[in-house]
Amino acid sequence: MGPYWGKVGLAIFCSVVVGLIATSPVPIIQKTFDEIFVNKDYKMLQIIPLIFVGMYVVKGGFSYIQNLIIFGVSWELVISLRKQMFDHIHSLPLSFFEEESTGRLLSKITNDVSIMQSSVTNLVKELLQNSMMLVGLFCWVFYLKWDWALMAVVIFPLAVFPISNIARKLRRLGRKGQEILADVTSYIHESFSGVKIIRAFGMEEAQSKNFSELNSGFLKVMKKNVKYTEIPSPFMEILGAVSGGFIIWFGGSQVLDGAVSQGTFIAFIVALFMMYAPVRLLFKIYTRFQTSLAGAERVFEVLDRPVEESEAGKKELPGLNKTIEFRDVSFKYPSRAAMVLKNVDLEVKKSEILAIVGMSGAGKTTLVDLLFRFFDPTQGGIEIDGVDIREFSLKSLRNNLALVTQETFLFNDTIWNNIAFGAPEASKEDVMEASRAAHVDSFVQALDDKYETTIGERGVKLSGGQRQRIAIARAILRNAPILVLDEATSSLDSESEKLVQAALDNLMEHRTSFVIAHRLSTVKHADRIIVLSHGEIVESGTHDQLLAHCGIYQKYHEMQFLDVGDKGESAAELEP
Ligand SMILES: Nc1ncnc2c1ncn2[C@@H]1O[C@H](COP(=O)(O)OP(=O)(O)O)[C@@H](O)[C@H]1O
Ligand SMILES: [Mg+2]
Repeated sequence: MGPYWGKVGLAIFCSVVVGLIATSPVPIIQKTFDEIFVNKDYKMLQIIPLIFVGMYVVKGGFSYIQNLIIFGVSWELVISLRKQMFDHIHSLPLSFFEEESTGRLLSKITNDVSIMQSSVTNLVKELLQNSMMLVGLFCWVFYLKWDWALMAVVIFPLAVFPISNIARKLRRLGRKGQEILADVTSYIHESFSGVKIIRAFGMEEAQSKNFSELNSGFLKVMKKNVKYTEIPSPFMEILGAVSGGFIIWFGGSQVLDGAVSQGTFIAFIVALFMMYAPVRLLFKIYTRFQTSLAGAERVFEVLDRPVEESEAGKKELPGLNKTIEFRDVSFKYPSRAAMVLKNVDLEVKKSEILAIVGMSGAGKTTLVDLLFRFFDPTQGGIEIDGVDIREFSLKSLRNNLALVTQETFLFNDTIWNNIAFGAPEASKEDVMEASRAAHVDSFVQALDDKYETTIGERGVKLSGGQRQRIAIARAILRNAPILVLDEATSSLDSESEKLVQAALDNLMEHRTSFVIAHRLSTVKHADRIIVLSHGEIVESGTHDQLLAHCGIYQKYHEMQFLDVGDKGESAAELEP
């Protein structure tokens, strides 16, 4: 709340005023009894009601201002926390996303932040206002009759121990509830994303059953939560009634004896009963606050994680001059024990086209991912022009790289914006050129809205091949010196692949390229081909050299060409 101290200070001031005015019925009742009824003071009969109304007008005004400020601040806080979380999550290393599902993150950004909001309003508004009221009433009862007051409040410390116990339980329950809620969100997210497969496999019922299991887990926690949250209220009320009853009996007898005025007695009893409301509320705020804290813990667990850039250097990478070198690179995923890459030594010269082939799971994608620093090598390092890539800022490193991934990811936006995604400054002509080169233009012209067509979540309204061509156009437009094509043309039919390949060949001419492909016809013309097997480079050379070598590559080649026989085109992949 640091940034809002000015406003919060004003709200606190309002809280104090409102809380104090809320105690005004006590003296008013006392004066009414003693001055009007007993002393028959007619002037007071006119003044007291006016004061009474006046007080509540002031209270109403302050209360409104206070609410405006507090709810305003709490919404600002929610928005700013959501923004902070969004930005922070975007700057966390990729490995973070392997532990946290999209749905769970969604839940943290929405549910956990919301639950924090209530604690802000509670803390500043209810807590302060009620404490002030309580302090005011405390003063009144002691002022009216200190000995009765002592007798009346001596019982309350009894409540502290059981309620602090309850608070601890609530905190745990709050956390559990938020966790289950995150699982629920996650499940919904996944279930709707996978709707096609769920229908195709007839799994709607199973999904529904799992969902209701998750929900009933949540229900159980919430019911427990209510059970504990609601204990303090009646408990305090009973304690209050005990001390109130005692005062009526004890004080009442003193009034009958004439030792104390009726006004004082009535005012005391009113003040005493008025105290229960804030006391009860304070305990309730305290218990509710525990649930909020559980949400806050979850939010700050994310916000406190170190960002990806914190492990990167500051150097600028102006471009590629000579070489990219993998030096004795070994790598294992943090979540796995087995090495995925083993002692990879590789030197790629500027403008070279390097093809990487190998069975699926060989580590091809992992190898190029290291170049982007999505992960860092477990051992060894990667150098560009002799400088370890860890010394560059991530932004400047990635500015030099263009990527077409295996799973093309498109955004639920227009085709135009999807192509221009990585190059916001590109001119209209550049976008068109990239689009034509990747053969996007040819199918876009047939669409009703042309480039303004929105393509649905992840591009569901397009075919796989069309999606891939947009992804290629995006990479072409990016115009980076290093190009990474990870099975970029695998969803294209042979005809469009040939066309797109021609565009890519043009593009690769002035660039350093890493091309991963299953179809050997795609990689045949690479300057060099490496064969990756179980994370190791087992063969390396040109197409002709590798064929002559009679190794794995030659075997792949044979397999693919046996399938079709004639033109050397084959959809057969390098799967075992
Ligand atoms: N995020 C990950 N966490 C753990 N293991 C992974 C992860 N991604 C890939 N792997 C494993 O690493 C190996 C290599 O994967 P990958 O580089 O994607 O293979 P390829 O691209 O050659 O098909 C596989 O055995 C795969 O199971
Ligand atoms: Mg792969």
